[in-house]
Amino acid sequence: MTEPTADATGPARRIGVVGGGQLARMMAGPAAELGVSLAVLAEKPDDAAAQVVPDAPLGSHLDAAAVTALAERTDVLTFDHEHVPPETLRALARAGHIVAPDADALQYAQDKAWMRGRMAALGVPQPRFSVLMDLTDPDARPTAGELDAFLGQVGGEAVLKTSRGGYDGKGVRVVRSSEDAADWLADDTLLGDMPLVAEEKVPFTRELAALVARSTTGEMRSWPVAETVQKFGTCFEVTAPAPGLSAERQAGIQALAERIAEELDVTGVLAVELFDLAPVGEEPDPEGRAGALGVEVNELAMRPHNSGHWTQDGAVTDQFEQHLRAVAGWPLGATAPTAPWTVMVNLLGGSETDLVVSAQRALAADPGVRLHLYGKSVRPGRKLGHVTVTGTDLDEVRARARRAERLVVDGIDPEDPQTTVQEDR
Ligand SMILES: Nc1ncnc2c1ncn2[C@@H]1O[C@H](COP(=O)(O)OP(=O)(O)OP(=O)(O)O)[C@@H](O)[C@H]1O
Ligand SMILES: [Mg+2]
Repeated sequence: MTEPTADATGPARRIGVVGGGQLARMMAGPAAELGVSLAVLAEKPDDAAAQVVPDAPLGSHLDAAAVTALAERTDVLTFDHEHVPPETLRALARAGHIVAPDADALQYAQDKAWMRGRMAALGVPQPRFSVLMDLTDPDARPTAGELDAFLGQVGGEAVLKTSRGGYDGKGVRVVRSSEDAADWLADDTLLGDMPLVAEEKVPFTRELAALVARSTTGEMRSWPVAETVQKFGTCFEVTAPAPGLSAERQAGIQALAERIAEELDVTGVLAVELFDLAPVGEEPDPEGRAGALGVEVNELAMRPHNSGHWTQDGAVTDQFEQHLRAVAGWPLGATAPTAPWTVMVNLLGGSETDLVVSAQRALAADPGVRLHLYGKSVRPGRKLGHVTVTGTDLDEVRARARRAERLVVDGIDPEDPQTTVQEDR
């Protein structure tokens, strides 16, 4: 039997995902519900997605032949990370494959130097920045002089980022002089032809994330803007909707994310990470640096994003299902929240070594907790799963989600005085 392929007359039903991490894993449930087939290019048989997706050929995202083979037996190719070389994706598009998002869109999530330049061209509010390398000169390298000049302009402190390959805060550091970055500036293997981007250190009051899905048909739907808290540069806690954000700002920030999705011709889920410059619970100063919306763009991700995990338990349609629908050209689902508040807390590796065991106490203590484990081995700080709690009282919802996290990760119950003694944070 030959399966139908995507064409103008029918919805796509065979989706290939490059990358076998937890994001691909969390597409598996929705794919089964929608009746679409999922194939995942994983690096190792025990990758998070390869454990649950039967069709998981092994191969590297850097191997054009492996990526092409996946594209050839699926209707549409998408991703669980943004590290596939653009030349591979361009060749596939030329050969008639649907790649979502395509290479032209994805480059703005792959490369922070390109992203900053494009946001500037679109007039999107963002921190002052400098690309430490002349992008038009093939022999150029980032130099200490360029960094020191930028530090002089922004008052002596900057956030320095590698333009490509960073994730979870890797490739991001605060510097006060070019000496602080001497190792990066001297590192040929790190830099090669890669620029560094220096950004002004933004005095934000909190971080926000706007999540929008845009289908290959152009249909768009946004979830409520959420508040994110990072720990060691990694997303840790997400509250949706963002507390104290007025309806006007909610709508304005969603419109900004939708405008970016449209201008960049993104297909699938787009996450726009933002800095909020307004005092929490107050309106921004319209004359202030970030204008009436009071936000500046940090970075873009074009795939389901940690800031959207709350949608699995707190929205009509979750981001993983929506991503599949969007890349396959299906109608998008409603994004309305199903509870007044949802709090998601990541499970980052701690002292517990078997989370299936440690989770038993958390689930028994609070049957309202929703648990999501990624099947990964425990390493300190590694993203191993998340928990979500929904409800009507934000303080209570947050306390319950945090308690579950403590129990699963470190076996500590904040409500039990016997164990709080051991707590160190
Ligand atoms: N210009 C800035 N000013 C102040 N803080 C910043 C700035 N840029 C980044 N940060 C802080 O560092 C964190 C990580 O930065 P960024 O999102 O650019 O890195 P990343 O490694 O791509 O992260 P991730 O994959 O976790 O989203 C941000 O969430 C923010 O807390
Ligand atoms: Mg980020």
